[in-house]
Parts: sequence; C-alpha cells; structure tokens
Amino acid sequence: MSVFHDSDKNIFTLRTRHTLYQMRVGPGGYLSHLYYGRNFESKSRKSNQADSLDYLYLPGDHGFTTNPYELKAERDWSMDVLPMEYSAANTGDFRLSALNLATRDGVWGADLRYIRHEILPGKYNLTGLPSAFDREGNAETLSVILADKATGIEINLLYAVFEEQDVITRAVKIKNASDKIIYLQKAASACLDLPFGDWDLIYFYGRHAMERQTEREAITPGIKTISSRRGISSHQQNPFVILCDKNSTEDFGDCYGVMPVYSGNHKTEIERDQLDSIRLVTGIHDEQFTWKLNPGEIFDAPEILFAYTHQGLSQLSRIYHNFIKNNIIKSNYPESSRYVLLNNWEATYFNFNTDKLLKIASQAKNLGVDTLVLDDGWFGTRDDDNQGLGDWFVNEHKLPGGFDYLIPKIHEMGLNFGLWIEPESVNENSDLYRSHPDWALTVPGRKPAMGRNQLVLDFSRPDVIDYLYHIFADILRKYDINYIKWDMNRCLTDVYSHAFPADQQGEIFHRYVLGLYNLLDRLTSEFPDVLFEGCSGGGGRFDAGILYYCPQIWCSDDTDAIERLTIQYGTSFGYPPCSMGAHISAVPNHQTGRKTPIGTRAVVAMAGTFGYELDFNKLSEQEQDEVRRQIQDFRQYDKLTRDGDYYRLALSKYNHRFTAWEFAAPDQSEALVSVVMTHPTANAGPIYLKLKGLDESACYGLKFEFFGNLVPADQIYGGSRDGRKSYSGAALMYAGLTIPALFGDYPSARIYLKKI
Ligand code: DGJ
Repeated sequence: MSVFHDSDKNIFTLRTRHTLYQMRVGPGGYLSHLYYGRNFESKSRKSNQADSLDYLYLPGDHGFTTNPYELKAERDWSMDVLPMEYSAANTGDFRLSALNLATRDGVWGADLRYIRHEILPGKYNLTGLPSAFDREGNAETLSVILADKATGIEINLLYAVFEEQDVITRAVKIKNASDKIIYLQKAASACLDLPFGDWDLIYFYGRHAMERQTEREAITPGIKTISSRRGISSHQQNPFVILCDKNSTEDFGDCYGVMPVYSGNHKTEIERDQLDSIRLVTGIHDEQFTWKLNPGEIFDAPEILFAYTHQGLSQLSRIYHNFIKNNIIKSNYPESSRYVLLNNWEATYFNFNTDKLLKIASQAKNLGVDTLVLDDGWFGTRDDDNQGLGDWFVNEHKLPGGFDYLIPKIHEMGLNFGLWIEPESVNENSDLYRSHPDWALTVPGRKPAMGRNQLVLDFSRPDVIDYLYHIFADILRKYDINYIKWDMNRCLTDVYSHAFPADQQGEIFHRYVLGLYNLLDRLTSEFPDVLFEGCSGGGGRFDAGILYYCPQIWCSDDTDAIERLTIQYGTSFGYPPCSMGAHISAVPNHQTGRKTPIGTRAVVAMAGTFGYELDFNKLSEQEQDEVRRQIQDFRQYDKLTRDGDYYRLALSKYNHRFTAWEFAAPDQSEALVSVVMTHPTANAGPIYLKLKGLDESACYGLKFEFFGNLVPADQIYGGSRDGRKSYSGAALMYAGLTIPALFGDYPSARIYLKKI
C-alpha cells in the first residue's frame, strides 16, 4: 500500500520507497499541502500511518490577506499563505492560480472545498491523453473531489503513486456539475507548494538546432515562467523543469522534477511569494485557451510526472530515465536493440533518385548499417520545401516504379526500410490544399503567417485525422516499412478552426494536440513493430507526450558533435539517452562548418540512438573501415547504453576543457566512459574523472580507445594503463581516474570497464 488516509486528522499520505507526500483537509474543508520530500519513519509503514506533519503550518496574521467567511474571526488563517494542493482564483489566494473559470452569468474563480475521496488500486486513465501506465501492476491512486458551490465546478485531483519507481503522477479531471455552461479559462494540471527552503530552478531553453541548453538560477521574488505558445512543446523552452536546493549537486541534495506529459502549449510558473514560499503551477498554457464545458462534461488536464530525491540531480535523472523507459514508452523498443540507420537527409537533401539511393544503401549495407531511411522529398511534387506536403503518393520522377520497386530492392539488400512523413502540414502548392483549403488553420479574412512555406493542418477536426489515418495506414499495410520518422516543421499560427463555433475557438490549440495523439495512437497501436521516431525540426517537440508513442525523438537538427554535447547533456536531465536520436554526419558539418574526427562523432552519437546521415561513398577507405568498427562497437555497447545508468561526469561549459559521461550497468558488471576534449590547452594537466555506479569491492579491467589526431591508444597505455590490468571500483570512484590531456581538434577517449 502506498496511499493512506488518517480519518481522525483527515490527512492523506502518499509513500514511495524514498519519498513522502502529505496533505490534509483542514478548517473550512480546504485541501492544504503539508509536505513532499524524503521518506522517513519507515517503521510506521507497518501501521499504514505516517507521522502527521500538520505542525509545520503555523497560522499568522500577515496583513492584507483575507480570510474565508466562516473563519473571519481567525484573522491569522488566510488562503493567501496556506500551502494548497490546487489553487483557484478570486477567493483570497493571491498567489498563482491553477484554476480559473467563468460562468455565462459572469461569475469567475472558485472556492474549492473537499467533498469526498477514494483510494483505488491501479492507475487512473485520462481520456485522449498519453499518461504513465502501470506496467508493474503496483500503482495506487488517490482521487480527491473538491467543489465550488457557486459555479458547480467539481475538481477531481488524481495522484497515482508508483512506489518502487519513486514517482507520483498527478492529473485533474474538471467536471461541470451545474446545469449551466462553464468556460474554463485556466485548467492547470497541478500546483506544488514548497513552503520552506532556498531553491534554484533548472530549465532547458534554446532555439532551433540548439535545443535544451541548461540554465540554473536562484528563484527570486516574483514569478518566473517557462512556457510555449507555439502549439508544440518547442525548441525554446522544454516543459521539463527541476527545483533543487541551492546547494545541490549531481550527487547530493533535494531535487524535484516536474515533467508534463504533453506536447502542445505548456506553462510552468514558479512564484516566490511574500513569505519566500515557492508555488509551482504547471499545465496547459492559459493564453489562447478557453474550454466550454457543457453541463455534465468533464475536461481532462494532462498528466505531470513528479519525482523527488535527496540524492542530487544525477539520481533524479535516473528516476526519470527508468520511468520513461518502463512506464511512458509504450512500445517494446526500449527493451530491444534499435536500428543502426542511415538517413539520407544530409546525404542528398531533396536531390535523390532510385539509383542514388540504392548506391548509398548498398554501401551502407557493406559497412554494417541495418536500416535505410528515406527522408523528405519522396512524394508529390516535393523537389524542394515549397511544395508537395500533403500529397502522400510517391514522386515517380525521382523514384520510377514507386515503392513497389524501391522497398523490395532495399529489403533484398538485407536492409530495413524507413520513411519520413510530416502528417501535420500542408503546402499551398499541393493537391490536398487545393481540394481542402478549410483543412488548414487560417483566420477568415487574414492571410496566414507562413513557416517554411507551409501551413498547419487543423488537427482538431476528426475528418482530417481520419483522412490522414487512412493515408498512412494504407502505406504501412501495403509496404514492408520498419521505421517511421514523424516530422513537424513549423509552429502553429492563425489558430482558427473552420469546423468549430466562435465560443470553442479557444479549444483549438488543445484539440490539435488531442488530434495528434489520436492519430499517433491509432497508427502506433496498429503497427506496433514499426519503430516510430518523433521529430519537429529536430527537437522542437521533445517531451514525454511524444515519447509515449515514439521511443526515440530526433534530438536536434544540429548534428555537429561538439554542439551535440551540450544539447544531449541538457536533454539527459529528464530524458533517457536511448530516446535521443543521434547521427554521425559529414564534415565540415552542415550546421557549423566545424571539422571533427569521425571517431569523436561516433563517441557522441553513441550517447544516443546511434546512426548515420551522410553518403558513405564520399568517405575515404580508412574512414569506411572506421565506420565498420564503429557499428561493431555500437552493437557491443548497445545494451549497456540502453539499459545502463547514465551519469553526467563533466561539461566543458563549466570546466572549459572537456565533456564526459558514463553508462554503468545496473548490476555494476561493466561501464562505458566517454570523454570529448572541446578545448585542448597548452601545458595542461591530465583529465581527471571520478567514476560512478561501480561496485566498490570489485576489480575492473579497463580498455582505452582514443580518437582524433592522436598517437594510437597502445602507444599511450600499451593496451592497459601503466602495466596494470585492473583497478578497484572503490579507487575509480573515490580516488578517480586520470588520462593524459588529449591534443588536436576535438579528440576523444572511450574507456570500457569490465568487472573481472
Ligand atoms: C527537419 C528534420 O529535423 C530533418 O532531419 C529533416 O527530416 C528535415 N526536416 C526534412 O524536411
């Protein structure tokens, strides 16, 4: 059992292995938050009770705060300072609201009081939304109903406790229990109050081709917002955020993770209030959002994955990595090898034909690649990115005989076949747009904004979703396709649906996401053996909502190995390395013009899904041999990098020299350490690393490999370092490991450790 109710004190306690969450129904029937943090008093689990933490809340009259009517005599009891489980507007809590609404009579806000609760086995379901599933069958749900008398709104606060995984998921179902229409104006999924402490915020910002850069800053008085209003979760601000104690490090300190399972407009607000308490409110962005709730209707707000650890950022990341692999990604791919694919995008862009593809494919096969992915440009009149989107039939000028010819040819070579699609967009210059102009999001009387010369299809319309489902299901039924790259190359503007009335236009952003999930759900369920990779101009929609359907997401359109170091580093805080699409591309790199050694490019791509995006025929024989070896290496390390515990060891942004990371097998039998030198300096000392996740009492044999313009590894260490064959796990973790400074342009080192 992980959910407990103390009926005497009206306290709810949620327990995971290492965390404790407590709330209570207090005076006036308000559901206040008491504690979320480290678990303690494990003895009390026997009695299914936890220590009551209501002593933490000390009432006080803080002036210019208001009191609920029936508590007006108690001037030190105010909604404005009470830690809340779900806050609402217009009733005396002047901090961030999770909920706002208006009735047709102009009544707004809500006074939410406890009505009843239920403790249920298993995990709740959300209609039309991806959410964590209870693979292990050990989850338990607490449902607490709050209601506002004046408007008739009913809030079902849902908490699913994943005891072993140390994760609590939260979501909200909002019901119109009145007989009149209610308009939701803000329907956040969760509110988390941290009454005490000194907190930093970590978030992941960026731009196209430079996603998820890591920023850490103190939470100062006022409100900080991390959000997207672009219709996608965005390159600019990823929905995942961390609150951590200001002294916390990778290995130590209180950290909370907040991860929306949502792919559209999101908003996480963090307020430090007049008493230096922190309130975090997270969910769908409320700008351009209203939702009409007819009597009896229910609105489901997306799920948020909460995790806490006192063991620092590294452990927080591992909690999310494991949870995403086991309880979010619904396909079998996290447990099986991924394809080593060759994607033709940077090899050919739009300039390909069957002969060229077959030549590239044949060389790919020779070198050990197992999947050819045909990217953009195979359909309609798609000779450039101004036309053809929406016309999902093969361009026979480029590919005579169509897929009937090409796909069997690829399979005959012994390769899998993968295909790029962009279902959500349409070019004006396409048959689809010409026959259904009303299927695009456009505002009547206004010329739409164009992005990459394309418009976005109105995914709030079921007829559009059905049409696309039939198009792509037919292709997948007819041809032996093993992999799909699902791209989306612009943000949403002119958000107006020609299928909905005026008072529902505020629903379109969210209905778009529901339509997207519906299409993804139908296709991924019907074709479970197809590996779906998400993409939005690289990592513009890298979130837990997409990961539910697609086990991997193209991490960034920036394939430069050195830039990828910070992108993958930032991404790794919330998302597992096996979800990060990562390829080795040509040099000079197409985004930065930088030249990096092919070995270093492979070291970096091996911290993700590993694949290629170049024309092998343009590589020298020596480079081709190296590719052969890289693929063998990847297959050797595949399981370790997919299942291993991931540790960030160093980032050159902070040490100005190198970035390093490690995968350690959960059973501590082996580990793989990678180091990339970004800024070699003269007369430098050695690279020093403290390894992690090893068995301190075991001995490990080490194999060193070096890449770049260096002396070969055996000249440095003669195959094993200074004649020694092994090191103890304790020495490697506590005393550390030194390797010589690496010279040249972007050299790298890889160290494989095996318990002996
Ligand atoms: C953006 C993607 O991120 C690229 O990898 C490529 O697929 C292009 N779109 C194709 O248009």
